[in-house]
Amino acid sequence: MSDSRQPSTPEGTGHPRHDLVSATEFRDGMAHLAAAVNIVTTGTLDDPVGFTATSVCSVSDAPPTLLVCANRERSLAQAFLDNGHLCVNTLGAQHRDLALLFGGGTPMAERFAQARWELSADNVPYLPDAAATFHCRISQSQIIGTHAVLFCEVRQVTRTPGTDALAYFRRAFHELPDR
Ligand SMILES: Cc1cc2nc3c(=O)[nH]c(=O)nc-3n(C[C@H](O)[C@H](O)[C@H](O)COP(=O)(O)O)c2cc1C
Repeated sequence: MSDSRQPSTPEGTGHPRHDLVSATEFRDGMAHLAAAVNIVTTGTLDDPVGFTATSVCSVSDAPPTLLVCANRERSLAQAFLDNGHLCVNTLGAQHRDLALLFGGGTPMAERFAQARWELSADNVPYLPDAAATFHCRISQSQIIGTHAVLFCEVRQVTRTPGTDALAYFRRAFHELPDR
């Protein structure tokens, strides 16, 4: 666990940045930012890849674009860049256990064994009962520190109306009623 008083260190330089907050201070602040919970998927039904992500954000509706931040240290980011297509499955309240399973520490095959997946038009596994699924093509990417920011053009949206939402706030899952 890093010390919150330690200044941040820009990658590769070893020199601390005294003008920035520490990583711990940043994370503690971000814990107060409530976010939707998603499982981002790529690969195929035989060799699927997916992880839980809260770092999903709308960029523009013309062209319809969202972004996803994927940790480069987990080697997942490269699988997404290699494939070029991904699905952002925005989870419902009933997917809390799935969000935990895809949140780290579990082999890919075990993660995908716990739900029914279908194949998108781009041959990417997606969750048919997600609150919404954004079927995307990666149009650009940018490395920022530890993460790859994937900019994704949205080719199709599938939705499950009437689904209660799953949110992540103060390091815990919360349910938001549909109405
Ligand atoms: C609630 C929650 C949100 C997460 N959000 C992200 C995220 O936005 N980007 C990311 O790269 N990892 C995120 N993670 C961590 C990844 O899901 C995790 O590192 C990934 O499944 C790889 O698993 P591994 O750490 O076992 O290699 C999140 C985890 C949880 C539980």
